[in-house]
Amino acid sequence: MKLIKDVRIIDYKKDTYGHVLISDGKIRKIFESLDNVELLDTEIIDGKGLCILPSFIDMHTHLRDPGFVYKEDLKTGQKAALKGGYTTLCTMANTKPVCDNEKTFKYILDKSKDLNLCDIIQISALTKGQSGKEIVNLESLLKFTNLFSDDGHTIYDEEIMKEALKLSKRHNFKVLTHCQPEYEIVDRDLKLLEKIGGNLHICHISLKKTIEKIKEYKDKGHKFTCEVTPHHIFKSNIDYKVNPSFRNKEDKKALIDGIKNDYIDVIATDHAPHSKEDKVKGSPGISLIEIAFSMALKVFKENNISLNKLSKLLSYNPAKILGLKSGLIKEGYTANLVLVDLDEEYKIDTSTFLSKGKNNPFNKETVNGRVKMTIKEGEILYSH
Ligand code: NCD
Ligand code: ZN
Repeated sequence: MKLIKDVRIIDYKKDTYGHVLISDGKIRKIFESLDNVELLDTEIIDGKGLCILPSFIDMHTHLRDPGFVYKEDLKTGQKAALKGGYTTLCTMANTKPVCDNEKTFKYILDKSKDLNLCDIIQISALTKGQSGKEIVNLESLLKFTNLFSDDGHTIYDEEIMKEALKLSKRHNFKVLTHCQPEYEIVDRDLKLLEKIGGNLHICHISLKKTIEKIKEYKDKGHKFTCEVTPHHIFKSNIDYKVNPSFRNKEDKKALIDGIKNDYIDVIATDHAPHSKEDKVKGSPGISLIEIAFSMALKVFKENNISLNKLSKLLSYNPAKILGLKSGLIKEGYTANLVLVDLDEEYKIDTSTFLSKGKNNPFNKETVNGRVKMTIKEGEILYSH
């Protein structure tokens, strides 16, 4: 058993002080006071001055394994994630080979099981080879996942998108879309959703007019979800190659307002590690999973958005969307937790990244909110 003692406890629904008892991988009990509590064989973790949150769940991570392990591999990516406070990752299918077949699924899931670090929910490509032409063999892949995405390869063919939405309803899976051009494809997909129904999650939106479109359809009562990245709410007008691009000040403000007004469901990192050489050659993407929480926290503090809301977007909503019994600090829930110092300031230093990808434009920027410890199923898997 472990007791995290004298700690501020925050999740989407609470912000309080107390003591969290963990046993058998679960949150056993939350005590307001330890008077009359007998603690035998209990490891005490001093939480004074710290805050405990549900660990973070990333719905959009690129781990590059198999095929591009010089950029990242399953071990380095998951170590980096744990350092960032994440214990569950939805990993994108743009590996080599593309994850559109049983063999690649087995490789990723078996290797991750052996590593015993994060929980990996591997995303399948939506179309064979992410070529946008033919939907993958669902029958063989639905036993591994209920998430399907071609990510960076936008589904340009409307007929394929229609079919994907129909099938998502029939087989109860989610279609995750990366839309380029963003506004036009989101507009098309929401029109299709209105007609056909289905389970749609829109990835990393970045434009004011996209959020306005999303607002229009959510206000009409349509059910779908969407995400933003930490970098699009952190900075605007930066000349650094990433998909979608950094946008202007008004776009950034609209995303933050979208968070305030509950039109944005999830913050997902889009952690996209690359080598120095690939970046020079023009590969888009930012390596950021180990600092994503600090980046988001800075934005939330500056805009007076509550920590409850932050926990909602980093943990509660992703858990709900993925159907996981985590994302809250609640008795009986899985003890997936992160201990943070909300006030500790530090300078981002890409040379200390555990990720192989040091590609990040925020080097030397000051942020606050340091992850001190990451606990998965009751076990300490990272400690600062
Ligand atoms: C993605 C990657 O590197 O896998 N990069 C990114 O900037 N988001 C691919 C992509 O979505 O274009
Ligand atoms: Zn993408």
